[in-house]
Amino acid sequence: MIPITKPLLGPEEEEAAVAAIRSGWVTQGPKVAEFERAVADFCGAEHAIATSNCTTALHLALTVAGVGPGDEVICPSMSFIATCNAIRYTGATPVFAEVDQQTYNLDPDAVEASISPRTKAILVVHQIGLPADLNRFYDLAEDRGLKLIEDAACAIGSRYRGREIGGDAELACFSFHPRKVVTTGEGGMITTNNAEHARRLRLLRQHGMSVSDAARHSSSQVVIENYECLGHNYRMTDIQAAMGVEQMKRLPGIVARRLELAARYTAHLRRHPWLRPPHIPEYAQPNFQSYSARLADDAPLSRDDLMQRLLDRGIATRRGIMLAHVEQACADLAAPPLPASEAASAASVLLPLYPQLTDGEQNQVLAALDEIAGERAAA
Ligand SMILES: Cc1ncc(COP(=O)(O)O)c(C=O)c1O
Repeated sequence: MIPITKPLLGPEEEEAAVAAIRSGWVTQGPKVAEFERAVADFCGAEHAIATSNCTTALHLALTVAGVGPGDEVICPSMSFIATCNAIRYTGATPVFAEVDQQTYNLDPDAVEASISPRTKAILVVHQIGLPADLNRFYDLAEDRGLKLIEDAACAIGSRYRGREIGGDAELACFSFHPRKVVTTGEGGMITTNNAEHARRLRLLRQHGMSVSDAARHSSSQVVIENYECLGHNYRMTDIQAAMGVEQMKRLPGIVARRLELAARYTAHLRRHPWLRPPHIPEYAQPNFQSYSARLADDAPLSRDDLMQRLLDRGIATRRGIMLAHVEQACADLAAPPLPASEAASAASVLLPLYPQLTDGEQNQVLAALDEIAGERAAA
């Protein structure tokens, strides 16, 4: 069986987790601080603030951006549902805008057309690690006085115009779920270049508490903390962060192998009769968190049929990116017509991609795709 993904974890992560347990610091402590520094340095951002996952990171990023009840935040429907859920946690309303037909990232023109007097922010998603055209969004946000927050859940190690995602961000949120390029089991991180945002994020993730546990424990004076705002418990543990420090060392190698495998898929799919490789714009170097292929309009079988035929051959796939607006959880949200999102979601399929996938295993996937095309041509 070839799975859709596999986290790359080894003895280094195992030993780091054990060392954290033995150290006695199991919740947020020195390893979280070390992991934050590693991510900030990798991205080229001044600050990184770890959280329990990316959904909580998004909630906090929206909060420090000033998003609250009565506001609207423009986002794609074509994203994991956590994107729109995080907006709803603040009391604001998600306003779904259309995606670009080729990249599946938010279409800046559609975003502009969705701006209303209540719009407070744009939540742009770097979908499956493919950077959105950030300059267009920076300009739009600046011209219209809006906040720009980046849902970079899948995008650690991706580059926009040669710069790491998260490096130039006012607020970018990453996920370390096992489906992502590097993992801490569960985990999130916000990068920012704004010191006041960083201070508030650190408060909010820890009950609004003025002193961290690490600072209190290392002080020779008695420290009585205070609570200056309504906070949350969105902390990462030191056990997770210890894994994260090791994962960050692996990240460049993981991305390099993903790029190699993606290039092999693309070279093959260019010759496939009805399955198309993803479009990568010249400004983007994705990390290929997922490899999304698209069935041509005249494909002789449905996407689900293709997935089943691959599964019958021992190859796991996943449907492309979901649509939030068709889910019951979003039934109370108004959605404009989103034909490009609906067409892209229905026609796309994610193929197996992870650094341990061997060339031989990938060849099996390619052969299966050719075989299915042969069967359909003969039918
Ligand atoms: C685009 C996007 N945003 C947010 C999330 C939520 O991340 P987490 O599972 O770390 O909360 C995900 C996770 O898959 C995602 O893909």
